[in-house]
Amino acid sequence: MLDTLNPADPGFARDPYPYYARLRAQGPAARVALANGTHAWLVTGYEQARAVLADPRFSNVPPARAGRPKPDSPAQRARGCLARHMLNSDAPDHVRLRRLTTAAFTPRRVDALRPRIERLTDGLVAELSDRLAREGTVDLVDAFAFPLPVLVIGEVLGVPEADRADLREWTYRVGSPADALAPGAVDEAWGALHGYFTALIERKRRAPGDDLFSALVHDASEGGLDDGELLAMAFLLLFAGYETTMNLLSSASLLLLTHPDELAAARAGGEARWAAVVEEALRHASPLEGTTWRRTTEPVRLGDRTLIPAEESVLVVLAAANRDPARFPAPDAFRPARYLTGTGTGPGGERAAPHLGFGHGPHFCLGSRLARLEAAVALPRLFDALPALRAAADPDTLPYRPGLLVRGPRRLPVRTDAAAPPNG
Ligand code: HEM
Repeated sequence: MLDTLNPADPGFARDPYPYYARLRAQGPAARVALANGTHAWLVTGYEQARAVLADPRFSNVPPARAGRPKPDSPAQRARGCLARHMLNSDAPDHVRLRRLTTAAFTPRRVDALRPRIERLTDGLVAELSDRLAREGTVDLVDAFAFPLPVLVIGEVLGVPEADRADLREWTYRVGSPADALAPGAVDEAWGALHGYFTALIERKRRAPGDDLFSALVHDASEGGLDDGELLAMAFLLLFAGYETTMNLLSSASLLLLTHPDELAAARAGGEARWAAVVEEALRHASPLEGTTWRRTTEPVRLGDRTLIPAEESVLVVLAAANRDPARFPAPDAFRPARYLTGTGTGPGGERAAPHLGFGHGPHFCLGSRLARLEAAVALPRLFDALPALRAAADPDTLPYRPGLLVRGPRRLPVRTDAAAPPNG
């Protein structure tokens, strides 16, 4: 039996991989004692992770729905709305909610966002460049990896440009621990987001725009979605989309800054090579460390040796499955070439197995195409505009967000190296 797992431990948050490797060595799914006194099953094997995510005997509906006290403040009511989204539901509710969204998120609609993402990226890179010249050292998370996904979600939801600074501020607040900000600031932001999205739905209904959310609002009335569900959908798109993409952008940037040969290969290799960098970053530094919690609705046998009883909490650890040595040779190495045909890790040089960074099964990430597009636009534009960008802190001392769900550096100080040639 391994030691009690404390997800708040800063050392674990920064590098959970040795722990996961020890856990996997005990078997692909194991019951773990957590520091808060509870127990949970952690699934760390690649094959078993896929099996769990495709198996309807693992439910996504949070048990708290049944027994939690009624929300009694406006902020709690606003938070309560969040819980009614598709990621917290099973079929048939899930199928109904998801079907409407996939109709709005067609590849054509997502790909049409490219010029706008390019414009937003260029604006942020220009601001970053000015700040680097003025301030010397700048936090890449704060100046680039955080604002870009929030601005892009602003495009998806059709939020007027003038309102995006507010959206960014409220999002930042509700994503922060309550004790990190002035008293009441988080509650106030919940209320503001709730009010803003309620008004936005009304506005899109009266005057639809050329955005994905207008399409959703339109389809919702025909597909039987009520306003509460629509509101939850807007929240989900905001939250599922921003912190995950932020972590992808900051972890991929850190990997490139600490692997200059890979950065040079990407800059020389064009689109396919950058796409391979994005896939390998999703595998190596999975931005969603674990999926949302699942619960067994009946006893489930996983493999020969493991029986998970009914009503147990189960976490599929994507970060661990993505480093399963049975699937990925040298799993701890950052090697984008494994996602290039001809130089991959299979016997004939074929591409590595698909990673599970976007999950698997019915809840497979709805925004995967958008996230890939954002990274494929943002990373080359960042490193082309700032070829002398360097990490300005020891990568081994960077703080990481505590917890088992999302993973990425909270800060990534960078500077430009005056000695580097202007075109890298
Ligand atoms: C790098 C960025 C991203 C990563 C790594 C990521 C990862 C994931 C994963 C692993 C899941 C499944 C969770 C589970 O099974 O419990 C998921 C679901 C989801 N993601 Fe993403 N995501 C990203 C970006 C986005 C974006 C940009 C959007 C939307 C704009 C989005 C929208 C969603 C939605 C709506 C779901 C729920 C799907 C369902 O329940 O059927 N994601 N994401």
